[in-house]
Formats: sequence, structure tokens, C-alpha cells
Amino acid sequence: MPKNLIETTKSWVRARLMETESGHDWWHIHRVYKTAMHLAQSENANETTVALAALLHDLTDTKLTDQAEAVEAEIVAFLQQHGVSVSLIEQVMYIIRHMSFRHSAYFTGIKSIEFQVVQDADRLDALGAVGIARAFSYGGFKKRPFLNFETRAEAEAFFRNGNPDASTIGHFYEKLLLLKDMMNTESARRLAEERHIFMLRWLIQFYREWEGETC
Ligand code: ADP
Ligand code: NI
Repeated sequence: MPKNLIETTKSWVRARLMETESGHDWWHIHRVYKTAMHLAQSENANETTVALAALLHDLTDTKLTDQAEAVEAEIVAFLQQHGVSVSLIEQVMYIIRHMSFRHSAYFTGIKSIEFQVVQDADRLDALGAVGIARAFSYGGFKKRPFLNFETRAEAEAFFRNGNPDASTIGHFYEKLLLLKDMMNTESARRLAEERHIFMLRWLIQFYREWEGETC
């Protein structure tokens, strides 16, 4: 893997993400990059493609910019300037364009193993202890309540029927608890299952405290 290119890309992305909300900040990119590199090894994916796509995957996110097309052009120019081949640029841009959760639910195109690995790493970062932290960070950013029900029974009855709800716990049922069944690769599925079980245990404790348990 060309070390210089990867280090330069890291600095470039890091500088661009200095002031973003904490669920989408440089540390999210850093975690996704590390997880993606780990998955790339177990899945025999091309490390350079995975590294670039992981580092660049959120710059065009509509939560961060309302000028996704202009940012895409900047990414392409950056890669060209650093001597990345046309075919590698195409592969990386294809991954970035089609990967995000909102788009991917409808995306039926071809996913290379590199695409699969980066998407899995991004989804894994929405799970487990970090996933919980990100959800509450986002909920705080949007000024959302934790939960809109008095008891676990009421909340679960409501969420089980797939009802939408603008609370952060609601987001668990709408997205986070569904992600473990959406992993592309076997290596990611194993990690996702551990993180899923952790979130279920955390939810039980959350509801206990929410209902007023004192000992
Ligand atoms: P992606 O990283 O694929 O673009 P999103 O932008 O939808 O995914 O989400 C980024 C992070 O913000 C994730 O950790 C996600 O769980 C969290 N998030 C998104 N929407 C909500 C919401 N309505 N409530 C709480 N957290 C959310
Ligand atoms: Ni992401």
C-alpha cells in the first residue's frame, strides 16, 4: 500500500473535518479506517482501495455538506494530483457514492469486496458502545429526547410494530438493531453480533433505570 498517499489523504480529510458533529468527525473516519483495514485482511480485499474509500467516505455526506457534487469533484482532483490511476479513482468514487445507509437500502448495483468491507466497517461504527455514543451525540445535536414512553413495555410495543419515533432510543429500533443482519462479510457479521448483544444488554439496563429501579 502506498504509505505516503494514505498519510497525505489522512491529513487532508482530518483538516476538512475539524468542526463537524462528533458522530461524523475525524474520529469516526479513523475508527472506520482501522476496522476496514482489519476486514480487508481477513477478506483479501485490495488495501489501497479500501483505505482511500474508508478515509474519504463521508466527505460528501449530505449531513456535512449541501454541495456533494462540488466535494466529489474536489476529491477526484485531490486523487489525480497525487497520481492515483483513473481506474482506482473510479473504484473509490463508486464506493463513496453508493455506500451510505440511506442510499444503500435501495442500492442493488454490484458491490466489490472492497465496497463490502468499507460499508461493513461504517455500519459497525453505528453498533456497540461507540454506536450508542454516536446515537446520543446525534440526538443531542438534534435536541431529541432519549425516549418518549414511561415504561419498557409501552416503548417496545410501539417500536415492535415499526412505528417511527423522534427519540434516540427509537433510532435503535429503526436502524441500529437491524444492522447486524445487513453485514456483507462473514468477518463483520461476527463483530456485529457481539456489538448487537452488548446493545441489547445496555437497553435492558437503560429501561431499568428509566423506570426508576434504585437497587
Ligand atoms: P452513515 O454513517 O451511513 O452516513 P448516518 O449518517 O445515517 O449513517 O448516521 C451516522 C450516525 O448518526 C450513526 O451512528 C447513526 O446511528 C446516527 N444517527 C443517524 N440518525 C440518527 C437519529 N435519528 N437518532 C440518533 N442517531 C442517529
Ligand atoms: Ni461514516
